[in-house]
Amino acid sequence: MKHFLSSTDWSKVELDALLRTAAELKKQPVNKMMQGRSIALLFLNPSLRTRTSFELGMQQMGGIAIVLQPGKDAWGLEFNPGAVMDGEAEEHVAEVAAVLSRYCDLIALRAFPGFLDWQTDREDSVIKALARYASVPVINMETIVHPCQELAMMMTLKEKLGDVGRRKMVLTWTWHPRPLNTAVANSALLIGTKFGMDVTLLCPEPAYVLDEQFMQQASANSKASGGSLSVSHSIEDAYAGAEFVYAKSWGALSCYGAPDQEWEMRKHYRHFIVDEAKMKLTDGALFSHCLPLRRNIKATDAVMDSDYCIAIDEAENRLHVQKAVMSGLLEINS
Ligand code: CP
Repeated sequence: MKHFLSSTDWSKVELDALLRTAAELKKQPVNKMMQGRSIALLFLNPSLRTRTSFELGMQQMGGIAIVLQPGKDAWGLEFNPGAVMDGEAEEHVAEVAAVLSRYCDLIALRAFPGFLDWQTDREDSVIKALARYASVPVINMETIVHPCQELAMMMTLKEKLGDVGRRKMVLTWTWHPRPLNTAVANSALLIGTKFGMDVTLLCPEPAYVLDEQFMQQASANSKASGGSLSVSHSIEDAYAGAEFVYAKSWGALSCYGAPDQEWEMRKHYRHFIVDEAKMKLTDGALFSHCLPLRRNIKATDAVMDSDYCIAIDEAENRLHVQKAVMSGLLEINS
């Protein structure tokens, strides 16, 4: 049984097929493909786009989506095998996965990392536990990667640029007042390299380079796809000649769980905001961000309101790609 936990588990051929289905579903959004089918959406963290697009997407295909927020409107969850459950959690994922698998055809989970110990969080063990105990396909709605966002980004780029091979993509770290999840940055790196782009990771200093498992996978992707991967700490060099600028803020992994310590580095890098002056260094680049985005913190009003900003298109495409993922996992083609 196939899950959608990370794009690394899917070949480029399979991802291209999902993108083709998404393009078809964009042309014909309302259909009966998922009539009688259902998905349980488990949110351990807030969402606007992911929740709306999954719920609406399932409804547009004739199915039902049930949103559960463990710890709020559903029992709190324990994910560790062998745990002595004398804390807050009332249910183990073993039972939750088994029960939801009897009710629903698909289960999706958003579970941000704990932000205490990266050596633990980098294992992505929460969603892996859900997939292990479930007897239906599981979809990642963001853990330490965000594969649905990856697909939406790539769908949008293909719509705008056609073939993305050897196009220069800059994944730039941006300023934000506190350290955030690396998931979208990891994912942007993975999908850009998988599709043969010349990807430059721009970050203020080596402490902000992403986890080696993603750097190594991205490097392997580049070798397989004919693209390239480089790291830069120079804003001018990275933006020069770029055709796509993708922005995200994330925390330095060496200070994971220590935000005050991380702040001592971070406070120097307000100038990493995406602004018009930086975009003028590019080769007429498109700009995007996964959203939500703090205006005039991560990117200026002028960038967000520009013709080259495709963040809203990318957000729309979340709907179409997730419909392709849901129907694809159930092998429903029409
Ligand atoms: N990009 C994204 O996943 O948005 P939400 O957090 O609003 O779902």
